[in-house]
Amino acid sequence: MIALGCDHGGFGLMQEVKKHLEERGFEYKDFGCYSEESVDYPIYGRKAAEAVASGECERGIIICGTGIGISITANKVKGIRAALCHDCFSAQATREHNDANILAMGARVIGAGHALKVVDTFLDTPFSNDERHVRRIAMIED
Ligand code: RB5
Repeated sequence: MIALGCDHGGFGLMQEVKKHLEERGFEYKDFGCYSEESVDYPIYGRKAAEAVASGECERGIIICGTGIGISITANKVKGIRAALCHDCFSAQATREHNDANILAMGARVIGAGHALKVVDTFLDTPFSNDERHVRRIAMIED
């Protein structure tokens, strides 16, 4: 189950992400927002992050205008490693090295075609489980 959260700036891209997840057979839980009406991104970033932190969802995808505000919000939730990625190299590396459990993107930064490739890379790349990366992630949590 993938937790989704966005603000008005991310709403349009999130509709594309949802269609894409459905085509790929992924289930998701949409924590809003639900329109392009102006809202406060911390509300939706936090809801999606809490769903991942509690284990209700395995991963999350969060989107605002830049991806910055919503990723800062998500990273305040204990156990969350939200990575702001606008390229496939970063999405692959953050899964392999950081075991990132949330992907953040900025809809005003990246086009939908590229964003969906970033989503695929994030969802399809496993954590490396290398000792050094396990150690470093444990240091983040302390
Ligand atoms: C909303 O205008 C915008 O500030 C928000 O989407 C995001 O970019 C914040 O970091």
